[in-house]
Amino acid sequence: MKITVITGSPRKNGTSNYMASEFVRGAEENGHEVYLFDSAKSNVNNCIACNACVMGEKSCIHKDDFVELSNKLVESDVIVFVTPIYYFGMTSTIKKVIDRFYSIDSKLKVKQNKSVLISVQHSPVDVVAEAMNAQYQAITNWLQMENIGIINAIGIESLEHLKQTNYPKQAYELGKSL
Ligand SMILES: Cc1cc2nc3c(=O)[nH]c(=O)nc-3n(C[C@H](O)[C@H](O)[C@H](O)COP(=O)(O)O)c2cc1C
Repeated sequence: MKITVITGSPRKNGTSNYMASEFVRGAEENGHEVYLFDSAKSNVNNCIACNACVMGEKSCIHKDDFVELSNKLVESDVIVFVTPIYYFGMTSTIKKVIDRFYSIDSKLKVKQNKSVLISVQHSPVDVVAEAMNAQYQAITNWLQMENIGIINAIGIESLEHLKQTNYPKQAYELGKSL
């Protein structure tokens, strides 16, 4: 299978990127082809609502890193969103990438990709993950994606702390299970 993993943390050695690497390790061990896209380090412009793309009928006016990503997305069987939770949702860089899905909206709906969410949060409170999951489910329902897994790593204080939990194993096993 072709898998695209979009990460949302500005911290290279942060907790969500570690979760992403464990997921990828499992998926690659199972022979899957993984394309990684770091939304925090990429050059992706904001959607400016010019409607030139008319939700996928024409191409986007921006010629930036999203062009390559968009080609990968429409070829992918699985799209994986990996993000720290910032104010009860995904980070702005990953949301900015999703806003650009507007230009491939109809192609994604036809493709009916499978999707995965992996989030990491500092708070031990479930309501944070519930808000995150509601956002993810609304977006993926709209895009007619089939959710095949959600991992919410809750109450994570540091990378060292994350490594002492079962969450990295869950990410590895989800990748391996595909
Ligand atoms: C701007 C900002 C907003 C945050 N908002 C929340 C939040 O709403 N709930 C929460 O539990 N943690 C919040 N956090 C903590 C991060 O989710 C947490 O530290 C996460 O592990 C960071 O992921 P990373 O290591 O991959 O960068 C926030 C952190 C930042 C920097």
